[in-house]
Amino acid sequence: MKWIIKEDYEACCAYAAEQIRAVVAAKPTAKLGLATGGTPVAIYRLLAAWHQAGSVDFSQITTVNLDEYVGLSPDHPQSYHYFMQQHLFSPLQLTPAQTFVPSLDLAKDLSDQAGAVDEATFAGGPPDLQLLGVGQNGHIGFNEPGDTLTASAHLETLAPSTLEANARFFVEGESVPTQAITMGMQGILAAGKILLVACGSAKKQAITALSQDGAVSTHCPVTFLKLHHNVEVVIDQELADCLPQSL
Ligand code: PGA
Repeated sequence: MKWIIKEDYEACCAYAAEQIRAVVAAKPTAKLGLATGGTPVAIYRLLAAWHQAGSVDFSQITTVNLDEYVGLSPDHPQSYHYFMQQHLFSPLQLTPAQTFVPSLDLAKDLSDQAGAVDEATFAGGPPDLQLLGVGQNGHIGFNEPGDTLTASAHLETLAPSTLEANARFFVEGESVPTQAITMGMQGILAAGKILLVACGSAKKQAITALSQDGAVSTHCPVTFLKLHHNVEVVIDQELADCLPQSL
């Protein structure tokens, strides 16, 4: 696992965006696994600026997203469909055929819809690069801590700390969805390269667990990245203290 420490959030995002640029430059048809939340916002802003300037050609990429809330329509401002459209798909002028964001309608067959996420993840090969944030509790995608984790895409009940953390994106009085559909651990770990970005002291517990040698625990899903051969973790100065001296 390669650790990169940058001064602050913007510098972390600049570094991460450069990694994505390098993957697309080397392979214009790259498949990118993408994340939502607060962390990737500045990364996507940079990719959009490069597209606008004509310095990177994103016209042949395909993308697959990690997760989506259950119960929000794609045009709901807090849905991850909407987030991706606003922050990346529209700015990069990607067509719907190039992108996939999971969705789940509880009135329809669950296994078909989860199967569609795995199909999108693996069809034509898994992502060349998977961009990840991490939850305060160590979740990746919406794979929440527990006695077990699920390999395939599935419906997940969100942990109380996740609901609390994500409430900041919703207007006061609006309830945060309690369930989500998420890519499973297998889909995440299948990517050719994993790029995890974490900033701010709220991520200390998760980054400490990830940086400690050896232990992998379902109670901190991000630790499963230790099983992957090509992971880069980009953290800000605030999290640098979490790393053992040996790194
Ligand atoms: P954040 O969320 O980027 O908004 O901190 C990350 C996550 O919950 O995976």
